[in-house]
Amino acid sequence: MTPVPASPADVPASPADVPGDAPADGPGDGSGDRPGDGSGDRPGDGSGDVPGGPPVRVGLVGAGVMGRDHAMTLARSVPGAALVTVTDPDPDRAAEVAAATGCRVAVDADALLGDPGVDAVLVASPDDTHEALVLACLAAGKPVLCEKPLAPDAETALRIVRAEAASGRRLVRVGFMRRHDPGYLAMRRALDSGDLGAPLLLHCRHRNAASTPAFTSDMLLTSSATHEIDIVRWLLREEIVAVSVRTGRASRRAPAGVVDPRLLLLRTASGVLVDVEVFVNAGYGYDVRCELVGERGVHRLSPAPVSRDWRDRFAVAYRDQLRAWVGGLRRGAPDGPTAWDGYAATSVALAAVRSARSGREEAVTMADAVTPG
Ligand SMILES: NC(=O)c1ccc[n+]([C@@H]2O[C@H](COP(=O)([O-])OP(=O)(O)OC[C@H]3O[C@@H](n4cnc5c(N)ncnc54)[C@H](O)[C@@H]3O)[C@@H](O)[C@H]2O)c1
Repeated sequence: MTPVPASPADVPASPADVPGDAPADGPGDGSGDRPGDGSGDRPGDGSGDVPGGPPVRVGLVGAGVMGRDHAMTLARSVPGAALVTVTDPDPDRAAEVAAATGCRVAVDADALLGDPGVDAVLVASPDDTHEALVLACLAAGKPVLCEKPLAPDAETALRIVRAEAASGRRLVRVGFMRRHDPGYLAMRRALDSGDLGAPLLLHCRHRNAASTPAFTSDMLLTSSATHEIDIVRWLLREEIVAVSVRTGRASRRAPAGVVDPRLLLLRTASGVLVDVEVFVNAGYGYDVRCELVGERGVHRLSPAPVSRDWRDRFAVAYRDQLRAWVGGLRRGAPDGPTAWDGYAATSVALAAVRSARSGREEAVTMADAVTPG
């Protein structure tokens, strides 16, 4: 029952490292946006350099598709982590994860958060539950890795950013795992090397075999597209300032009334144009593509086998995200996308929702950087 070591993450944030205090050189708070800074720039991040000492004892909230996957990864492939407890309103799901991993079942999230044997919390419950859970983690002083999106609307995400800043501790990380994908890491290194010259265009494709029945047209933008939005900000190290959305003929595979596919055109502060296809009922499988066009060259995301199960495509990224989070906690160096990154992605997604309604390009509106409360 040893707590996570006291660390820079546990001391009041200075103006330079307040979540949401975006540095001049790119999006984020400065903790996750520089090469080699622990933001996932090293393949296998966190796997080999975790110091000794007691494991980080993780509590899992939500034992659905993502939660089960994270639980198995934590139990099998993350040195320095121990999954100690799980909770889910569906007792069978919680029991299944507990049986598979040997962890306890907590009666609810309050019990899990109040357990002194839980050092850190992984939130894998539905999007609309994230705010209450992340705020409860902040109140309990426990580091939390929250699945994306941080929140379904920008005001909610900003409340989390502000609550974290007021807590004086950098406790929140968001599950934008693509930053740990070896292919995207190679693309970022290629851009940083200067060999491609200045970036001009980015072409992104995000296709799923099938959406869940409850998926909505807006969720193509607020849930699926947030992965693309985050990777654009992370790759280019700048903010997206405007978004246009176009919708054409809807696939008959989509649930009734769902406009799928959609095309987004993002414009960054420096004028890079990014086109994004989001097609979540593509039928044939999970297929993510990306091509970066620079003044002197082109870099394509290395091709990956198309799979029916989206978890296969980013299995390494999911694993390395957890390794980096746990390794960061053990080293006392927070790692991964911040609450501000979650807020920024949601802000862009909501500009996309506005554009889908208005038919016009919509500006991305974001609050000023947050200072300690
Ligand atoms: N990073 C990614 O690539 C990725 C992929 C899929 C889903 N997600 C995100 O992961 C989260 C979970 O998605 P999923 O596909 O596993 O959904 P899911 O429906 O399969 O599982 C969600 C689970 O949370 C439980 N739950 C509901 N309310 C809860 C609460 N208040 N407290 C605790 N548990 C609660 C449900 O009973 C269910 O078992 C969502 O936020 C989703 O957007 C991320």
